[in-house]
Amino acid sequence: MILRARAHAKVNLHLGVEAVRDDGFHELATVFQSLDISDEVSLEVHADEPTTGPVVAALHASGTYAAGVPEDESNLAWRAVEVVARAVRADRQVALPRVTLHLQKGIPAAGGMAGGSANAAAALRLAAQAFADFCELSEDKLYELAAELGSDVPFTLMGGTALGTGRGEQLAPMMTRGTYTWAIITNAEGLSTPAVFHKIDELRAAGKGSTPAMDTSAVAQALMSGQPQQLAAALRNDLQAAAVSLRPDLRKILDTGKAAGALAGIVSGSGPTCAFLCEDEETAGEVVAQVMFDNKGTRGIVTHSPAPGIEMLG
Ligand code: C5P
Repeated sequence: MILRARAHAKVNLHLGVEAVRDDGFHELATVFQSLDISDEVSLEVHADEPTTGPVVAALHASGTYAAGVPEDESNLAWRAVEVVARAVRADRQVALPRVTLHLQKGIPAAGGMAGGSANAAAALRLAAQAFADFCELSEDKLYELAAELGSDVPFTLMGGTALGTGRGEQLAPMMTRGTYTWAIITNAEGLSTPAVFHKIDELRAAGKGSTPAMDTSAVAQALMSGQPQQLAAALRNDLQAAAVSLRPDLRKILDTGKAAGALAGIVSGSGPTCAFLCEDEETAGEVVAQVMFDNKGTRGIVTHSPAPGIEMLG
Protein backbone atom coordinates (compact mmCIF):
# COMPACT_ATOMS: atom_id res chain seq x y z
CA MET A 1 0.00 0.00 0.00
CA ILE A 2 1.22 3.51 -0.86
CA LEU A 3 -0.29 6.61 0.75
CA ARG A 4 0.37 9.98 -0.88
CA ALA A 5 0.05 13.62 0.20
CA ARG A 6 0.79 17.07 -1.23
CA ALA A 7 2.79 19.48 0.95
CA HIS A 8 2.94 23.22 0.21
CA ALA A 9 5.64 25.84 0.74
CA LYS A 10 4.93 29.08 2.65
CA VAL A 11 5.87 32.71 2.62
CA ASN A 12 5.82 35.01 5.65
CA LEU A 13 3.87 38.13 4.62
CA HIS A 14 4.83 39.63 7.96
CA LEU A 15 7.62 38.39 10.21
CA GLY A 16 8.06 40.30 13.44
CA VAL A 17 10.85 39.01 15.68
CA GLU A 18 11.30 39.93 19.33
CA ALA A 19 14.30 39.32 21.57
CA VAL A 20 15.54 35.76 22.13
CA ARG A 21 13.72 33.84 24.91
CA ASP A 22 15.28 31.70 27.63
CA ASP A 23 14.65 28.55 25.55
CA GLY A 24 16.71 29.96 22.65
CA PHE A 25 13.72 30.67 20.41
CA HIS A 26 12.50 34.13 19.45
CA GLU A 27 8.98 35.31 20.16
CA LEU A 28 7.29 35.94 16.79
CA ALA A 29 4.29 37.74 15.37
CA THR A 30 4.05 36.36 11.86
CA VAL A 31 1.52 36.04 9.06
CA PHE A 32 1.99 32.82 7.11
CA GLN A 33 0.47 32.15 3.70
CA SER A 34 0.83 28.88 1.77
CA LEU A 35 2.24 29.02 -1.75
CA ASP A 36 1.24 26.88 -4.70
CA ILE A 37 4.70 25.29 -4.81
CA SER A 38 4.60 21.75 -3.51
CA ASP A 39 6.27 18.43 -2.84
CA GLU A 40 4.60 15.07 -3.16
CA VAL A 41 5.29 12.88 -0.15
CA SER A 42 4.50 9.15 -0.28
CA LEU A 43 4.60 6.51 2.39
CA GLU A 44 5.02 2.95 1.21
CA VAL A 45 3.64 0.67 3.92
CA HIS A 46 5.27 -2.77 4.16
CA ALA A 47 2.40 -4.67 5.81
CA ASP A 48 4.42 -7.91 5.68
CA GLU A 49 7.25 -6.38 7.74
CA PRO A 50 5.90 -5.72 11.28
CA THR A 51 8.35 -4.37 13.84
CA THR A 52 8.37 -3.22 17.45
CA GLY A 53 11.49 -1.11 16.71
CA PRO A 54 12.07 1.92 14.46
CA VAL A 55 9.58 1.89 11.58
CA VAL A 56 11.30 3.85 8.80
CA ALA A 57 13.24 1.53 6.48
CA ALA A 58 14.47 4.20 4.05
CA LEU A 59 13.88 7.69 2.66
CA HIS A 60 14.39 8.64 -0.99
CA ALA A 61 14.34 12.17 -2.40
CA SER A 62 13.89 12.91 -6.11
CA GLY A 63 12.84 15.79 -8.36
CA THR A 64 14.00 19.32 -9.18
CA TYR A 65 15.17 20.28 -5.70
CA ALA A 66 16.34 16.89 -4.33
CA ALA A 67 20.02 17.88 -4.19
CA GLY A 68 21.18 18.30 -0.60
CA VAL A 69 18.06 16.73 0.95
CA PRO A 70 19.24 14.29 3.66
CA GLU A 71 18.08 10.71 3.11
CA ASP A 72 18.64 9.52 6.69
CA GLU A 73 17.09 10.04 10.11
CA SER A 74 18.31 13.66 10.15
CA ASN A 75 15.47 14.38 7.70
CA LEU A 76 12.54 15.91 9.62
CA ALA A 77 10.03 13.77 7.66
CA TRP A 78 11.79 10.60 8.84
CA ARG A 79 11.65 11.86 12.44
CA ALA A 80 7.96 12.74 12.01
CA VAL A 81 7.08 9.12 11.15
CA GLU A 82 9.00 7.79 14.16
CA VAL A 83 7.29 10.35 16.42
CA VAL A 84 3.86 9.16 15.22
CA ALA A 85 4.89 5.51 15.77
CA ARG A 86 5.92 6.38 19.34
CA ALA A 87 2.61 8.18 20.00
CA VAL A 88 0.59 5.28 18.54
CA ARG A 89 2.46 2.75 20.68
CA ALA A 90 2.17 4.90 23.83
CA ASP A 91 4.65 2.71 25.79
CA ARG A 92 3.02 -0.55 24.64
CA GLN A 93 4.78 -3.28 22.66
CA VAL A 94 2.88 -2.74 19.42
CA ALA A 95 4.19 -4.20 16.15
CA LEU A 96 3.74 -1.63 13.35
CA PRO A 97 4.47 -2.13 9.65
CA ARG A 98 7.80 -0.80 8.40
CA VAL A 99 7.54 2.08 5.91
CA THR A 100 9.57 3.78 3.17
CA LEU A 101 9.30 7.53 2.54
CA HIS A 102 9.53 9.09 -0.93
CA LEU A 103 9.91 12.85 -1.35
CA GLN A 104 9.28 14.33 -4.79
CA LYS A 105 10.84 17.77 -4.27
CA GLY A 106 9.34 20.79 -5.98
CA ILE A 107 10.09 23.10 -3.03
CA PRO A 108 13.62 24.53 -2.90
CA ALA A 109 15.59 23.14 0.06
CA ALA A 110 17.12 25.34 2.80
CA GLY A 111 15.38 28.37 1.40
CA GLY A 112 13.14 29.87 4.06
CA MET A 113 10.06 28.31 2.41
CA ALA A 114 9.50 25.58 5.03
CA GLY A 115 10.07 22.74 2.55
CA GLY A 116 11.49 20.43 5.22
CA SER A 117 8.72 21.38 7.65
CA ALA A 118 6.04 20.74 4.99
CA ASN A 119 7.52 17.29 4.34
CA ALA A 120 7.37 16.57 8.07
CA ALA A 121 3.75 17.75 8.24
CA ALA A 122 2.84 15.45 5.34
CA ALA A 123 4.73 12.57 6.96
CA LEU A 124 2.77 13.13 10.20
CA ARG A 125 -0.57 12.87 8.40
CA LEU A 126 0.51 9.90 6.30
CA ALA A 127 1.90 7.96 9.26
CA ALA A 128 -1.19 8.75 11.35
CA GLN A 129 -3.29 7.23 8.57
CA ALA A 130 -0.97 4.25 8.04
CA PHE A 131 -1.10 3.35 11.75
CA ALA A 132 -4.76 4.33 12.37
CA ASP A 133 -5.80 0.66 12.77
CA PHE A 134 -3.61 0.45 15.89
CA CYS A 135 -4.58 3.81 17.45
CA GLU A 136 -6.25 6.88 15.97
CA LEU A 137 -4.45 10.11 16.94
CA SER A 138 -6.60 13.21 17.47
CA GLU A 139 -6.04 16.42 15.46
CA ASP A 140 -4.89 18.13 18.68
CA LYS A 141 -2.28 15.40 19.20
CA LEU A 142 -1.08 15.75 15.59
CA TYR A 143 -0.61 19.52 16.03
CA GLU A 144 1.20 18.92 19.33
CA LEU A 145 3.61 16.51 17.61
CA ALA A 146 4.01 19.03 14.73
CA ALA A 147 5.06 21.78 17.17
CA GLU A 148 7.61 19.45 18.80
CA LEU A 149 9.19 18.76 15.39
CA GLY A 150 9.67 22.43 14.43
CA SER A 151 8.21 25.93 14.60
CA ASP A 152 6.88 25.92 11.00
CA VAL A 153 5.49 22.36 10.99
CA PRO A 154 2.05 23.23 12.47
CA PHE A 155 1.44 25.93 9.84
CA THR A 156 2.46 23.72 6.92
CA LEU A 157 0.02 21.13 8.28
CA MET A 158 -2.81 23.69 8.44
CA GLY A 159 -2.03 25.83 5.36
CA GLY A 160 -4.01 28.76 4.00
CA THR A 161 -3.37 32.02 5.85
CA ALA A 162 -2.68 32.22 9.57
CA LEU A 163 -1.29 34.40 12.32
CA GLY A 164 1.56 32.63 14.10
CA THR A 165 2.64 33.63 17.60
CA GLY A 166 4.87 32.09 20.26
CA ARG A 167 7.78 30.64 18.29
CA GLY A 168 5.42 30.48 15.30
CA GLU A 169 3.59 27.32 16.37
CA GLN A 170 0.49 28.94 17.90
CA LEU A 171 -1.88 29.50 15.01
CA ALA A 172 -5.05 31.43 14.32
CA PRO A 173 -6.51 31.30 10.79
CA MET A 174 -6.87 34.71 9.10
CA MET A 175 -9.34 36.13 6.59
CA THR A 176 -7.98 36.69 3.10
CA ARG A 177 -9.51 37.64 -0.25
CA GLY A 178 -8.37 37.01 -3.79
CA THR A 179 -5.19 35.36 -5.00
CA TYR A 180 -1.71 36.82 -5.16
CA THR A 181 0.94 36.29 -7.84
CA TRP A 182 4.58 35.79 -6.86
CA ALA A 183 7.97 35.52 -8.49
CA ILE A 184 9.98 33.30 -6.12
CA ILE A 185 13.74 33.49 -6.55
CA THR A 186 15.72 30.62 -5.11
CA ASN A 187 19.43 30.40 -4.57
CA ALA A 188 22.00 27.69 -5.17
CA GLU A 189 23.60 28.40 -1.78
CA GLY A 190 21.45 27.90 1.37
CA LEU A 191 21.37 30.01 4.53
CA SER A 192 21.24 28.66 8.09
CA THR A 193 18.08 29.65 10.01
CA PRO A 194 19.81 29.71 13.46
CA ALA A 195 22.60 31.88 11.98
CA VAL A 196 20.05 34.44 10.72
CA PHE A 197 18.23 34.54 14.08
CA HIS A 198 21.58 34.93 15.83
CA LYS A 199 22.53 37.78 13.48
CA ILE A 200 19.41 39.78 14.28
CA ASP A 201 20.33 39.63 18.00
CA GLU A 202 23.83 40.77 17.13
CA LEU A 203 22.62 43.66 14.95
CA ARG A 204 20.20 44.79 17.65
CA ALA A 205 22.87 44.56 20.37
CA ALA A 206 25.01 46.86 18.19
CA GLY A 207 22.08 49.28 17.89
CA LYS A 208 21.66 48.49 14.18
CA GLY A 209 18.58 46.30 14.11
CA SER A 210 15.01 47.53 13.57
CA THR A 211 12.59 47.54 16.51
CA PRO A 212 10.45 44.35 16.54
CA ALA A 213 7.37 44.71 14.30
CA MET A 214 4.81 42.82 16.40
CA ASP A 215 1.73 44.59 14.99
CA THR A 216 0.35 42.59 12.07
CA SER A 217 -2.74 44.75 11.46
CA ALA A 218 -1.49 46.37 8.21
CA VAL A 219 -1.11 42.95 6.54
CA ALA A 220 -4.43 41.78 7.99
CA GLN A 221 -6.20 44.79 6.45
CA ALA A 222 -4.43 44.40 3.12
CA LEU A 223 -5.47 40.73 2.94
CA MET A 224 -9.10 41.75 3.47
CA SER A 225 -8.86 44.23 0.58
CA GLY A 226 -7.61 41.58 -1.82
CA GLN A 227 -5.48 44.31 -3.48
CA PRO A 228 -1.89 43.25 -4.27
CA GLN A 229 -0.78 46.91 -4.18
CA GLN A 230 -2.01 47.21 -0.61
CA LEU A 231 -0.41 43.92 0.42
CA ALA A 232 2.86 44.97 -1.24
CA ALA A 233 2.97 48.11 0.92
CA ALA A 234 2.39 46.04 4.07
CA LEU A 235 4.98 43.25 3.54
CA ARG A 236 7.53 43.21 6.34
CA ASN A 237 10.33 40.91 7.50
CA ASP A 238 12.44 41.72 10.57
CA LEU A 239 14.90 39.00 9.54
CA GLN A 240 15.64 40.64 6.20
CA ALA A 241 18.42 42.94 7.48
CA ALA A 242 20.10 39.95 9.16
CA ALA A 243 19.81 37.77 6.03
CA VAL A 244 21.18 40.54 3.80
CA SER A 245 24.01 41.22 6.24
CA LEU A 246 25.07 37.53 6.03
CA ARG A 247 24.44 37.38 2.28
CA PRO A 248 25.00 40.80 0.67
CA ASP A 249 24.15 39.29 -2.76
CA LEU A 250 20.47 39.29 -1.68
CA ARG A 251 20.43 43.11 -1.80
CA LYS A 252 21.10 43.06 -5.55
CA ILE A 253 18.45 40.37 -6.10
CA LEU A 254 15.87 42.47 -4.22
CA ASP A 255 16.83 45.58 -6.23
CA THR A 256 16.77 43.78 -9.61
CA GLY A 257 13.33 42.29 -8.91
CA LYS A 258 11.84 45.65 -8.01
CA ALA A 259 13.44 47.33 -11.03
CA ALA A 260 11.92 44.59 -13.23
CA GLY A 261 8.42 45.61 -12.14
CA ALA A 262 7.57 43.75 -8.90
CA LEU A 263 5.27 45.65 -6.53
CA ALA A 264 7.54 44.65 -3.64
CA GLY A 265 10.21 42.12 -2.77
CA ILE A 266 11.13 40.56 0.57
CA VAL A 267 13.41 37.87 1.86
CA SER A 268 11.22 34.81 2.52
CA GLY A 269 11.45 33.74 6.17
CA SER A 270 15.13 33.45 7.08
CA GLY A 271 16.15 33.39 3.38
CA PRO A 272 17.95 33.12 1.03
CA THR A 273 14.80 32.75 -1.12
CA CYS A 274 13.32 36.11 -2.13
CA ALA A 275 9.60 36.56 -2.79
CA PHE A 276 8.36 39.27 -5.18
CA LEU A 277 4.69 40.20 -5.14
CA CYS A 278 3.58 41.08 -8.68
CA GLU A 279 0.49 42.57 -10.29
CA ASP A 280 0.08 39.71 -12.78
CA GLU A 281 1.73 36.59 -14.23
CA GLU A 282 3.36 38.47 -17.08
CA THR A 283 5.20 40.80 -14.70
CA ALA A 284 6.18 37.87 -12.48
CA GLY A 285 7.64 36.13 -15.56
CA GLU A 286 9.66 39.26 -16.37
CA VAL A 287 10.94 39.47 -12.79
CA VAL A 288 12.09 35.84 -12.93
CA ALA A 289 13.83 36.36 -16.28
CA GLN A 290 15.56 39.59 -15.26
CA VAL A 291 16.73 38.39 -11.84
CA MET A 292 18.07 35.11 -13.27
CA PHE A 293 19.89 37.04 -16.01
CA ASP A 294 21.53 39.45 -13.55
CA ASN A 295 22.27 37.10 -10.63
CA LYS A 296 24.35 33.96 -10.99
CA GLY A 297 23.06 30.87 -9.16
CA THR A 298 19.44 32.03 -8.97
CA ARG A 299 16.35 30.25 -10.29
CA GLY A 300 12.80 31.52 -10.50
CA ILE A 301 9.30 30.15 -10.09
CA VAL A 302 6.04 31.96 -10.83
CA THR A 303 3.38 30.90 -8.34
CA HIS A 304 0.25 31.95 -6.45
CA SER A 305 -1.08 32.16 -2.91
CA PRO A 306 -2.94 31.16 -0.81
CA ALA A 307 -2.75 27.38 -1.14
CA PRO A 308 -3.97 24.61 1.18
CA GLY A 309 -2.08 22.73 3.88
CA ILE A 310 -1.41 19.00 3.68
CA GLU A 311 -3.72 17.41 1.11
CA MET A 312 -4.15 13.66 1.12
CA LEU A 313 -4.10 12.34 -2.46
CA GLY A 314 -6.14 9.39 -3.62
O1 C5P B 1 11.79 25.38 15.20
P1 C5P B 1 12.88 25.15 14.22
O2 C5P B 1 13.60 23.84 14.46
O3 C5P B 1 12.43 25.30 12.80
O4 C5P B 1 13.94 26.29 14.45
C1 C5P B 1 15.24 26.25 13.91
C2 C5P B 1 16.09 27.29 14.59
O5 C5P B 1 15.65 28.61 14.22
C3 C5P B 1 16.03 27.28 16.10
O6 C5P B 1 16.95 26.38 16.64
C4 C5P B 1 16.38 28.72 16.45
O7 C5P B 1 17.77 28.93 16.36
C5 C5P B 1 15.74 29.50 15.32
N1 C5P B 1 14.38 29.98 15.66
C6 C5P B 1 14.26 31.02 16.59
N2 C5P B 1 13.01 31.47 16.90
C7 C5P B 1 11.90 30.95 16.34
C8 C5P B 1 12.00 29.91 15.39
C9 C5P B 1 13.28 29.45 15.09
O8 C5P B 1 15.25 31.51 17.11
N3 C5P B 1 10.70 31.44 16.67
